[in-house]
Amino acid sequence: MPRADPRRPPPSPRARGEGRGERSPVPRLDPRRRIVSALFGLLYRNRLLYWLASTIPFAGQWRVWQRLALAHLTGPDVLEAGCGPGKLLADLVAAGYACAAVDRSPQMLAAARAELRRRGFAAAATPILLASVQQLPFPDASFDDVVSTFPTDYIADPQALREIARVLRPGGRLIVVLGAELLPTTPLLWPSVGVQRLVYGRHSGVTCASGAATAMPCAQAGLTGRDVCVRGSFWLAHLVIAQRTG
Ligand SMILES: C[S@@+](CC[C@H](N)C(=O)[O-])C[C@H]1O[C@@H](n2cnc3c(N)ncnc32)[C@H](O)[C@@H]1O
Repeated sequence: MPRADPRRPPPSPRARGEGRGERSPVPRLDPRRRIVSALFGLLYRNRLLYWLASTIPFAGQWRVWQRLALAHLTGPDVLEAGCGPGKLLADLVAAGYACAAVDRSPQMLAAARAELRRRGFAAAATPILLASVQQLPFPDASFDDVVSTFPTDYIADPQALREIARVLRPGGRLIVVLGAELLPTTPLLWPSVGVQRLVYGRHSGVTCASGAATAMPCAQAGLTGRDVCVRGSFWLAHLVIAQRTG
């Protein structure tokens, strides 16, 4: 499950203003996206299901797509937003970054802590906190980079982007692996592509032409975003890199 919907940014901001008492209209999701969101909600509570769902339908490329973020990091201080089961977090720690992570699923946090232990890292050195991206428990200007791979709708929430901008240092970057899709380049991939199309729709297209960086409410959060397309031999991935301007 690249983000709740791996292949498509949310159609419009989910302006919820969690944790700050703000309330703005929440766009209605179409029935397919509502079902998919509910299913993904279940996955975030079970690390085995999560692993199966993020591995098999994506031909094992999920981890490849996550790691696309690494090339854009400046560091040394990195926050992972919505860290899920912590696979990328462990990669970041292994690469020598001073990391912190948040997720709002206690089960995913437990999995992330276990992943760090499994990879031989002292979990105490990496704060992994139960928190919402819309209300980050860190002082202003704490991080050089914020990484978010396969985010749910929070990535289109102005409050979440404002919080991310707040904890970034001036010039710091939000690096988002927004989505990815397998391409039907060989018959072997047709079943996986079929599953993706069934779940996400035929024309859900994460493409570099989709202009997600401009659709995300970056500017009002003080971020300047740009789309980055990465094409592998049988997949297409879509990143957004957004820099804190002030
Ligand atoms: C699709 S998963 C991606 C997890 C991980 N980044 C990955 O690449 O496997 C989305 C994660 O974001 C978390 N999440 C969703 N909304 C959140 C929010 N508002 N604040 C913090 N975490 C959130 C979910 O619990 C889930 O672990």
